[in-house]
Amino acid sequence: MRLSTLLAPLAATSTLAMPAPDATTADATIQKRACFTSGETWGGDRSNAENKAISLCNAIKDYSFSAGRNYHRCYNLSSRKKVDFTIKNHSDSARKLTYGECMTGIGREISGCGQGGARDYLYWRVTADPNAGQCA
Ligand SMILES: *[C@@H]1O[C@H](CO)[C@@H](O)[C@H](O)[C@H]1NC(C)=O
Ligand SMILES: *[C@@H]1O[C@H](CO)[C@@H](O)[C@H](O)[C@H]1NC(C)=O
Repeated sequence: MRLSTLLAPLAATSTLAMPAPDATTADATIQKRACFTSGETWGGDRSNAENKAISLCNAIKDYSFSAGRNYHRCYNLSSRKKVDFTIKNHSDSARKLTYGECMTGIGREISGCGQGGARDYLYWRVTADPNAGQCA
């Protein structure tokens, strides 16, 4: 799960950009619905990633994305690392993704998987993936 490394200036971290999430029908390339076994590790950025999950889950709780679609959001971690969060809607009935469901689903891919992971959780497929580089 290694995306191309972006040679970005390291200084531009003063603004907290909140770009619109991209909701796409493209499947997040999930081979295993489990912990990833290759790619970047959380390393020293695990608690940073947990803080980003709080931002994600606060943003997503009012967001609608229909069945089969992904809610994706990238957050910068350290200067050379980022985390890609993706939540796919598997539900065929009207229901919101609550903050608690989001935090439980995302949280265990962070705390339970050294390199992130992807898993089905309730009505959602949740992915938390540390990657090299910074968000575009
Ligand atoms: C998930 O998809 C279903 C069916 O399209 C929809 O009714 C539901 O509201 C969606 N959930 C979210 C959180 O958007
Ligand atoms: C991540 O960092 C890059 C490089 O500094 C910046 O261009 C981008 O806007 C940042 N993205 C987010 C989501 O913070």
